[in-house]
Amino acid sequence: MIPATIPVDPLTMRRTMGRFATGVAVVTTRSPDGTPHGMTVNSLTSVSLEPPLLLVCLTTGARSTHAVTAAGRFAVNILSSRQEHLALRFARRGEDHFAGLDVTHGRHRVPVIPDAFAHLECDVERHFTAGDHVVVVGHVGDVCERDGEPLGFLRGRFSDVLDRGHAPAPWIS
Ligand SMILES: Cc1cc2nc3c(=O)[nH]c(=O)nc-3n(C[C@H](O)[C@H](O)[C@H](O)COP(=O)(O)O)c2cc1C
Repeated sequence: MIPATIPVDPLTMRRTMGRFATGVAVVTTRSPDGTPHGMTVNSLTSVSLEPPLLLVCLTTGARSTHAVTAAGRFAVNILSSRQEHLALRFARRGEDHFAGLDVTHGRHRVPVIPDAFAHLECDVERHFTAGDHVVVVGHVGDVCERDGEPLGFLRGRFSDVLDRGHAPAPWIS
């Protein structure tokens, strides 16, 4: 039997979009007064290769959202399968996310998680409000890739990402 369609509400929206498996990243920045900020995201999307653009959707109320738009720059730290604790740390509201955490610094002293699966340093290309989130488009400058496996997120839970070892897709050369 074909399942019936149902009208969407916020919980249904979250649950249904949760079937779109993603990685997990931490957006980090330093506000103009020098305070480091960071928040866990899974809304990361590649936008363009030339120029290199990505986007993240940041909730309008969060301290990190204001810090990113005020600073005009940020880093995206893609978490490894061993960094679930960092995903949880940077998702707790109202905490000092950096207390006792070892970070290095990228361009303009933006904090960077040193052993992330990868990180990308960005300047804010543009940002605009869409519903209850701010869409931030970043122009990517420097990147760093490290060994390991990515942390996944599916149906509201952290997950492993299975590499089946298939040949790369034909457009990846
Ligand atoms: C796996 C995961 C993914 C998340 N993705 C997003 C996201 O894409 N955008 C967002 O605004 N919040 C997202 N959140 C929630 C934020 O991490 C959380 O609200 C954050 O603590 C707010 O930061 P603040 O302390 O600066 O207010 C996510 C949380 C988790 C655990």
